[in-house]
Amino acid sequence: QASLGTSGRLSGRHVLVTAGPTHEPIDPVRYIANRSSGKQGFAIAAALAYLGARVTLVSGPVTLPTPAGVTRIDVETARDMAAAIDTALPADAAILVAAVADWRVEPSGSKIKKQGTPPSLSFAENPDILAGLAADPRRPALVVGFAAETDDVIANATAKRARKGADWIVANDVSGDVMGGADNRVHLVTEAGVEDWEQMPKDQVAARLADRIADALA
Ligand code: CTP
Ligand code: CA
Repeated sequence: QASLGTSGRLSGRHVLVTAGPTHEPIDPVRYIANRSSGKQGFAIAAALAYLGARVTLVSGPVTLPTPAGVTRIDVETARDMAAAIDTALPADAAILVAAVADWRVEPSGSKIKKQGTPPSLSFAENPDILAGLAADPRRPALVVGFAAETDDVIANATAKRARKGADWIVANDVSGDVMGGADNRVHLVTEAGVEDWEQMPKDQVAARLADRIADALA
């Protein structure tokens, strides 16, 4: 595959990206989900492909076009997403941007009807795709997670980086109007410390991150 950009800095590299929410069914007509437009993850997939990478984008349900040069795998649940990532290995890097539902319910095969008293749902924890990948014998050389936080953004992201075994965490302050919007304000948390990036459009965040990924894999 010819690289779309001119630099080809990531040509010959395989990069996995997750994006969007996951949907966890409650019954045939209902689900629980996280809020996620998929914009930031899709922009990252596009930016990596532009640098010549072979990109596998595992996406939850979103309404976005597939970026040029990207192989897209659509999934619904967190467990589907984990399985798709497993199948797509090996890879040189993984950028896990998806807002994965932390819990699922045991779905009812038939529609739950109103019966006077509201139903109670019992939750089970979903697999942690990032932590699993970081501990996998086939671990990509560079594993990057995202963390959407509303309070103590840096402290939470720094703790999350250690807990999950990620190389980098891109911390996202979502207390403003980031969700679904065109701009993002992020902090890059690495072993070396924390970089505060100015607020910029999501595709600029993506281009800058892709550039850093190319540096790291060089
Ligand atoms: N993630 C994942 N699988 C999950 C949950 C999260 O791969 N089941 C990934 C996300 O894609 C993201 C990173 O882990 O890259 C951080 O997600 P986040 O929800 O912030 O972390 P959690 O460990 O679920 O912590 P919290 O309790 O703050 O939700
Ligand atoms: Ca979570």
